[in-house]
Amino acid sequence: MTRPATSRETWNSRYRDAAVPLFGTAPSEFLRGIVGRSDFDARSALFLADGDGRNSRFLAARGAEVFAVDFSRAATEQARRQDIEAGLSVSRVVADLATWRGFARRFGAVILIALHSEEAVRHRTVETGLAQVDDNGWFVLEGFAASQADSDTMGPSATEKLYDLATTLSWIPADFEIYEALEGRVLLAEGTRHDGPADMVRILARRRR
Ligand SMILES: C[S@@+](CC[C@H](N)C(=O)[O-])C[C@H]1O[C@@H](n2cnc3c(N)ncnc32)[C@H](O)[C@@H]1O
Repeated sequence: MTRPATSRETWNSRYRDAAVPLFGTAPSEFLRGIVGRSDFDARSALFLADGDGRNSRFLAARGAEVFAVDFSRAATEQARRQDIEAGLSVSRVVADLATWRGFARRFGAVILIALHSEEAVRHRTVETGLAQVDDNGWFVLEGFAASQADSDTMGPSATEKLYDLATTLSWIPADFEIYEALEGRVLLAEGTRHDGPADMVRILARRRR
């Protein structure tokens, strides 16, 4: 039986009830590694399902022009407060990726981290994101792998909300070159919710010139 996606209200409550930032304040280690690559040159970026903005602020602090989308108003309000405290500018939109059509522009990088939702929403979000990647631009995806459903430590327990590497790669068109495609065990240390060993899918792709 397909379980419903975690609702916007549930996410709003999680963010409002959190005594400390849910996923910490440091960026994803995967993203940090990508931004540290000698060939990573994105001057603009779009973050999808950005939550309270730990990842988008990381790139904004490096001088990129940054946009972000999340359907949680509570997360977006927290993100905006942290942006101001950090003296950073991120253009934030509250929108549901299940229906959002994207911006009428493209970006040097589009980043989707930890969107765990039913396959139709994840697939649509990947397609919407890929459509906004500039020529020679980057697409980054990170999320829990389906095998993580068996773990009671973190992430959804429903496989339909989780990533399968082969299926996710099949959503990426041939004009993208796959730089990294990994499915396996990673030690996470990201706030109170993502802490410890977990099975992850990680993809780095680049649109050909
Ligand atoms: C696990 S959190 C990750 C947040 C952020 N990417 C990070 O790594 O800190 C998942 C985020 O996805 C957002 N989300 C879930 N479903 C969504 C949807 N359909 N449209 C937009 N955002 C969604 C939630 O509000 C939440 O902020």
